[in-house]
Amino acid sequence: MATKTVTFEIRRQANPDAPAVWERFDLEMRPGMNVTSALMEIAANPVTADGKPTTPVTYDSNCLEEICGSCSMRINGKARMACSALVEHLDQPIKLEPLSKFPLVRDLQVDRSVLFENLKKVKAWIPIDGTYDLGAGPRILPQEQEMNYPLSNCISCTCCMEVCPQFNESTGYVGAATIAQVKLFNNHPTGKVLKAERLRALMGDGGIQECGYALNCVEACPKNLPLDTAISDIGRDAMVQKVKDVLLR
Ligand code: SF4
Ligand code: SF4
Ligand code: FES
Repeated sequence: MATKTVTFEIRRQANPDAPAVWERFDLEMRPGMNVTSALMEIAANPVTADGKPTTPVTYDSNCLEEICGSCSMRINGKARMACSALVEHLDQPIKLEPLSKFPLVRDLQVDRSVLFENLKKVKAWIPIDGTYDLGAGPRILPQEQEMNYPLSNCISCTCCMEVCPQFNESTGYVGAATIAQVKLFNNHPTGKVLKAERLRALMGDGGIQECGYALNCVEACPKNLPLDTAISDIGRDAMVQKVKDVLLR
């Protein structure tokens, strides 16, 4: 039986200041092949389609099952996870590019630490003193668990930020993922203690009012987080907090 070939065109850049070049690779199509496994094959034999030896392509990956959020890149122009992008479902040649809104490290690897800085700004954690046994935590109703569970599925992949027209240097907008985590931690009976601080962190420049509610983020999220309701609920809560702060001044 004739073997089928799959062709990749990959945008390469040795460092942030180096010129970008495209390299083409032909691989033998394998059942269940995904973009990450193809990149592994290229790393094992880094030779371009025209026979020129090159360097292995740099990219991030870890879990290989859409859980760690590290392998986001643009695949045929769309921000998505490389490990869950099945080659048989993609148009050829398959174009791979790094995310465009984050500082480039090399090839397909970018620095996504802005999301982690934003999560720190809104204190996206439950503040407990873990140095001694605190006993059982507060009870959470099943209805609340059902509401919170989808928000806890965020894998910090930043696809929602890559596709967001408002996430750019001029707005400094935090993006949908951070807002969703504010909702998650504000909903928690212990996390609630920082609710006002989190909401205040989302007011002002780069805060929730930068959102244009075009919902590109909802479409792009690989874990189907309810980003639309998170943005509207937190927008309302931030407004209420603002009024309270004015009245209590
Ligand atoms: S709704 Fe639009 S502007 Fe708001 S976070 Fe999502 S993509 Fe960005
Ligand atoms: S909200 Fe969705 S798209 Fe955004 S970082 Fe989390 S998992 Fe990724
Ligand atoms: S390697 Fe972890 S999400 Fe793709």
